[in-house]
Amino acid sequence: MNIAVRYQSKTGHTAKVADAIANALGVKAEPITVPVSPDTDLLFLGGALYMIYGCNIDPDLVKYIAELPPTVKRAALFGTSALMTFGNKRMLKHFRTKAIEVCAENFHCYGEFKGLQKGHPDQKDLDDAAAWAKRIGN
Ligand SMILES: Cc1cc2nc3c(=O)[nH]c(=O)nc-3n(C[C@H](O)[C@H](O)[C@H](O)COP(=O)(O)O)c2cc1C
Repeated sequence: MNIAVRYQSKTGHTAKVADAIANALGVKAEPITVPVSPDTDLLFLGGALYMIYGCNIDPDLVKYIAELPPTVKRAALFGTSALMTFGNKRMLKHFRTKAIEVCAENFHCYGEFKGLQKGHPDQKDLDDAAAWAKRIGN
């Protein structure tokens, strides 16, 4: 199975989770500046919410989803927002216009922001992300 892991990350939290997912599956996590191959079977895609975008995901991530090759078979979403947990739903919305199936089970853990959710994502978050990825990817 051809698995890809991509993430959008401003302060490194989502990148950390992406690395845990990628390590669990024996692939490399890359930022969304790196396109996916059209023959991707399963794409793990991560992002977060930012007030600067009206508590929404980064417009670059929206564009990335819009421009995904329609031949990508399945996507699994993960996120690390600090306050709100609907980042994955925000991503999901942009898949509605695509023929790409999105796995029902997504993954969210908190990411520290302004003293809130201190230390997250922590080791347990990374272990949980790896376990989730293995469930989806195997
Ligand atoms: C500029 C900025 C704005 C943020 N706005 C929100 C927000 O509106 N809602 C929220 O839940 N978290 C917010 N956060 C917290 C981030 O979503 C959280 O720290 C996340 O883990 C960041 O992921 P990253 O390190 O991969 O960029 C914000 C963080 C930053 C840096």
